[in-house]
Amino acid sequence: MDKLVIRGGKPLHGTVRISGSKNAALPILLAAPLADGPLEYANVPRLRDIFTTLKLLNILGLSTTFEQDRVLVTPASVLNHEAPYDLVKTMRASVLCLGPLLARQGRARVALPGGCAIGARPVNLHLTALEKMGAVFDLEEGYIEGRCDRLKGAHIIFDFPTVGGTENLLMAACLAEGRTILENAAREPEISDLAEFLIAMGAKISGHGTSIITIDGVASLHGGRYAIMPDRIEAGTYMVAAAITDGDLILENCPLRELDAVVSKLREMGVGIEETPAGVRIRRSSELVNADVATLPYPGFPTDMQAQIMALMCLARGAGSIKETIFENRYMHVQELVRLGARITVSGQNAFVHGTDRLIGAPVMASDLRASASLVLAGLAARGTTAIQRVYHLDRGYESMEVKLAGVGADIVRARE
Ligand code: EPZ
Repeated sequence: MDKLVIRGGKPLHGTVRISGSKNAALPILLAAPLADGPLEYANVPRLRDIFTTLKLLNILGLSTTFEQDRVLVTPASVLNHEAPYDLVKTMRASVLCLGPLLARQGRARVALPGGCAIGARPVNLHLTALEKMGAVFDLEEGYIEGRCDRLKGAHIIFDFPTVGGTENLLMAACLAEGRTILENAAREPEISDLAEFLIAMGAKISGHGTSIITIDGVASLHGGRYAIMPDRIEAGTYMVAAAITDGDLILENCPLRELDAVVSKLREMGVGIEETPAGVRIRRSSELVNADVATLPYPGFPTDMQAQIMALMCLARGAGSIKETIFENRYMHVQELVRLGARITVSGQNAFVHGTDRLIGAPVMASDLRASASLVLAGLAARGTTAIQRVYHLDRGYESMEVKLAGVGADIVRARE
């Protein structure tokens, strides 16, 4: 396994280009089985989870190529309808093939995604909603067995604005008979990107980006071309990298509009964020001061930025708090940050951070994708050397992070553990 070794204390200066969004690319690629014609995708990030998704599409019977940031997918007349456990256990988002398979084939056999480091992450809301559209499910031997005739439009009200649930139902409803209304739908920008992709294939969708989405089923969807939106969480992560190292970065291709809650909180903490012709410029506008953060569904503060802003709070003056309302166990990074000298206590869904004037490098362990990003950020600011083990977590969601960071002055190398 690989580790990252960082000698901290170097302010970052220069330009970082933000890659395509992992959390938009995954559902948009997994929508491919819905199409009757070839699909061409641009701005696809080269990430572990993307390679896993392409492997799943191949298992389902579609052929794919991936050159630089472009993916080509050729449709299959008949689809294999099984997503095997060995693959699903490495990427929970595989469950997003459920909607497309049911919509296209009337059959799906998808391994029940296990839990993961950040929580149980059930898919009950996906299944209940698909049942309303006429699907019937059995759970056996760890697999979700789903069957249906042609799915029928339904009026669905989600108990919680689930991102994956909204995506699965959005895809399923495109080929259903009649109208589907999704109420209390997730409003994340990645949902809108998926909807725009499906519309480009001939789907009839409106209201995406709001909590009520309406889909009128069509007989078929054709192929097409689509460019994935930039990754707002990667962009937020590099905003923190500039601030925590007291550097001065320009982020190219930065989706600033989709980061309002993050930008507002960082500005409150003393981070200057301004649009320039070259991109979004990030540098401290004053001494860093602490703040209080609660993670919420979009447009609230994103849970995927919680670990990263916690790293910044560790070096901000005064005390701050975080309330993690989305996942039940998303503080795995806390004990590792404490190893670097951070002063953090956790009580239930709350974390309390007392800023300190320095962190000291040490060996630490990554546990999940955003936790590993948090450890990289802390390592960039810490005095001395920080070695982060199990960086395969990081590779799931950050394209060439050590290359991008070294390109703006970080002393960071990838080594064998
Ligand atoms: C998506 O996960 C993202 N993943 C996550 O990003 C992100 O943290 C999350 O949305 C919230 O924004 C992808 O897009 C691939 P949810 P998802 O369904 O779809 C509960 C990252 O770091 N829930 O909105 O799984 C669930 O347990 C990843 O890039 C149910 O109870 O999120 C969780 O507590 C991590 N039943 C909450 O809702 C269900 O049927 C949010 O889940 C579905 C969800």
